[in-house]
Amino acid sequence: MSETIKIVEVGPRDGLQNEPQPVSVETRLGLVERLATAGVRHIEAASFVSPKWVPQMAGSAELMRRVPRQPGLHYSVLTPNLQGLEAALAAGCDEVAVFGAASEAFSQRNINCSISESLARFRAVIERARQHPLRVRGYVSCVLGCPYEGPVAPRQVAEVALRLSEMGCHEISLGDTIGRGNPDTTRRMLEACLAVLPASRLAGHYHDTYGLALANVVASLELGLRTFDSAIAGLGGCPYAAGASGNVATEELVYLMHSLGHQTGIDLPKLVDAGAYICAALGRETGSRVARALARR
Ligand code: HMG
Ligand code: MG
Repeated sequence: MSETIKIVEVGPRDGLQNEPQPVSVETRLGLVERLATAGVRHIEAASFVSPKWVPQMAGSAELMRRVPRQPGLHYSVLTPNLQGLEAALAAGCDEVAVFGAASEAFSQRNINCSISESLARFRAVIERARQHPLRVRGYVSCVLGCPYEGPVAPRQVAEVALRLSEMGCHEISLGDTIGRGNPDTTRRMLEACLAVLPASRLAGHYHDTYGLALANVVASLELGLRTFDSAIAGLGGCPYAAGASGNVATEELVYLMHSLGHQTGIDLPKLVDAGAYICAALGRETGSRVARALARR
């Protein structure tokens, strides 16, 4: 049966946060504009985090003031604390995301606090955001493995996901930060989450370090998930997860969904153009096999 798949494009944030050289606001804006032209409707465009921690995301306020606004086009930004939320509000954002982890060591390295401290911070961010009202997305990182602690128990993932959902996050994005999952471990992790939350509240956020992200998407589809995060041209990684590569490429995800008869609302050739634009700006080859195949035609 044909289904509508929600794709959350995280390239301008997850993709570009890991670039060795900062990318100008002008180039980031050019990417967002092209993604919007391709029909992408959910774009995680920026991050209101400390520029000392992630200098690549400096300039996010200016970017968010300049992005094209259209009905049905939604932008989200990362906000780890109230300071980030206030900056996001001032820049006119309509959705924010808090980001926690299922692993203590990763939580400390990424946001400088324990899981329980992070949840207390997020509660304040979510309450303030919802007064506006802004929608809040919740991330759980390291759902299929941690770069510092190794394997992560599915029940730990489900516990953090449930807490974020109970605090008011409308959607929980499950991050395989270092791409260590396979369809089997993905299924076990999702089964634990689905015991406490419906599939409609969950999103798959799979990094493609070992080439298994698309296989994990298929396993998730089979369990009822219909929302997936991806990065144009397969850009990215996490500055606090050494060796992690980008998310599954958006071109691959769209190609897969269309070939299975599902709808994404995204125009694949225009999406490939958006990927070619950012790869030219960064001076590198695309990480998407679909983009390479379509470019040869
Ligand atoms: P901290 O040092 O504990 O914060 O960092 P603090 O409250 O003690 O403040 C220290 C300084 O940071 C102060 O400045 C604050 O003003 C400033 P100073 O007085 O020293 O000049 N500060 C801020 N500046 C701008 N915006 C803010 C902000 N907050 C404090 N929001 C903090 C704690 C959370 C801020 C820091 O650890 C941080 O920014 N971490 C971000 C890490 C990050 O962005 N990681 C990548 C994103 S997560 C990811 O990629 C995973 C994901 O994709 C899912 C997956 O794949 O798993 C989402
Ligand atoms: Mg990520």
